[in-house]
Amino acid sequence: MGGPIVVVGSINMDLVFRVPRFPRAGETLPGTEFHRFPGGKGANQAVGLARLGADVKLIGAVGRDPYGKELKDGLQKEGVDVSRVNETGVTTGMAAITLSEDGENRIITIAGANRQVTPEDVLAAKELFREAWGVLLQLEIPLKTVQAAARLGQESGCKVFLDPAPVAELPRSIYNRIDYLFPNSGELEALLPAEDDNEARAEKLLGWGLKTLILKKGDEGSSVFSGKDRRAFPAFPVKVVDTTAAGDAFAAAFCYSLQAGFPMEKAIVFANAAGGVAATRLGAQSSLPSKEDILKLQKEAKIDEMDY
Ligand code: RIB
Repeated sequence: MGGPIVVVGSINMDLVFRVPRFPRAGETLPGTEFHRFPGGKGANQAVGLARLGADVKLIGAVGRDPYGKELKDGLQKEGVDVSRVNETGVTTGMAAITLSEDGENRIITIAGANRQVTPEDVLAAKELFREAWGVLLQLEIPLKTVQAAARLGQESGCKVFLDPAPVAELPRSIYNRIDYLFPNSGELEALLPAEDDNEARAEKLLGWGLKTLILKKGDEGSSVFSGKDRRAFPAFPVKVVDTTAAGDAFAAAFCYSLQAGFPMEKAIVFANAAGGVAATRLGAQSSLPSKEDILKLQKEAKIDEMDY
């Protein structure tokens, strides 16, 4: 299925501090390693798609500063079309990531230039949306921009994907513009705190017009809720090094696989494997897999679309 995938999202420089454990309040804790990686959920998902061979256009913003230039150049080298990535007078987005020995993370972001991605930037890309196959969104840019992109995507006949991270309160009206929503368990709970459990939350969102919910459950795999269909898919057993961007790898691989014409079941298995590979590697964009990496893990784990 032809046409580009438009990612409207954030671009960050990630500063990663490896720690033996997470510090307590008021404590100064010596870390063991420091790394700097290109990141940001929008940029990560754009790179994830490009590495798999998709035609990707990113709408975003960086600062007119050295990090902004480095990140934009890096995206271009990955094959992402950055002609709609604006250079602004606001500093480039940043993320401070503490990473524990067992691969868990705590992330603090400063939006910076990501806050300058506006509904006007989306509307200025009307022609692009018209020819696009899909629109992939996250929540590290202003919500009104995400809403504008979901709306224009739907009106243009695109498949609309939303990774609701970092989680924020969403207006009920957005759900009927979304074809695929992929929260993790904590995010789903935060979206609908009044419901008793995630099954009830999923039913509520489907009732509000969401087409398909894919619940990411980390090492427990993922569950799908779509129409009357309810299914669970296993996770891939991997040795976790760093879970940063595993969700971004999932999002990119899922979109790519659907666009390639695979049924949803197969796309979810491929996406679970992509997240699994990313978790075995350090960093955000540095961890995103190629098609060969993903298929290798699927082969090793002997998990294919029939194994759920
Ligand atoms: O999803 C991982 C990303 O979250 C990191 O790259 C960091 O920049 C934050 O946005």
